Amino acid sequence: MARAGETDADTYTYDRAQRGFHWLMAVLILVGLALGIYAAWQVPGTSPRREILDIHKSIGLTVLLLLPLRVVWRLIAGEPAYRAPPSRSAHLAAKAAHLTLYALMLLLPVSGYVYSAAGGYGLPWFGLFSFPRLVPVDKALSASGYTAHYWIAWGVGIVLGLHVLAVAWHAWIRRDEVMGRMWPRRAVGG
Ligand code: HEM
Ligand code: HEM
Repeated sequence: MARAGETDADTYTYDRAQRGFHWLMAVLILVGLALGIYAAWQVPGTSPRREILDIHKSIGLTVLLLLPLRVVWRLIAGEPAYRAPPSRSAHLAAKAAHLTLYALMLLLPVSGYVYSAAGGYGLPWFGLFSFPRLVPVDKALSASGYTAHYWIAWGVGIVLGLHVLAVAWHAWIRRDEVMGRMWPRRAVGG
């Protein structure tokens, strides 16, 4: 049942800000993953690896800046109600997966930042300015940052794969409300 001042759909869908954060950050992360993997295959110091890594870092640092705003808003706004609540175990599994994704969205850019900053490499933001270097130049720290970045990227790939498979199962096999909570039909085009 909708509360006063809300439409029925508002009660059962993430609000506009949460949907905006989710889809904007999903695109940034997927493009960031693709560019990171592409760059890792190129010879260090060559073009276009350098240019691609500059864009990769800019995208990753954008994710890092958006994350606290998203988390604060999520804590204020909460999650929408379900029309047909899932079982307790299914809800717990979804919550655990979402919490893991939030943690990985923090750890992945932080590890990339440590790798680049401690390695003495640039920290550009789309050619407009450079992020401050908050860690000392330290090759061992940079190497640990790289190892962390590599394995956390794998973690993101796996948890994200499960996330998308779970959503696809809800959308196409169970045909329930889950996809509509983040992508309501009426939100498309306005
Ligand atoms: C591209 C394909 C994607 C689809 C189809 C998708 C779909 C969804 C849907 C339908 C929900 C709502 C689930 C529910 O209410 O139970 C959701 C939530 C969520 N998604 Fe995605 N998603 C995608 C990509 C991503 C990416 C790339 C990330 C970040 C790494 C992400 C992170 C999250 C998080 C953290 C939540 C929980 C939101 C909250 O309760 O605060 N998703 N997603
Ligand atoms: C959404 C955030 C990010 C995602 C999804 C992401 C993902 C990835 C992936 C998948 C790779 C390839 C790993 C490999 O196979 O070696 C990579 C490499 C890299 N990432 Fe990120 N990253 C993110 C943020 C950052 C940030 C913020 C920085 C630095 C400021 C950064 C710096 C780098 C560098 C320099 C490489 C090249 C590694 C090499 O081949 O030497 N990343 N990233």
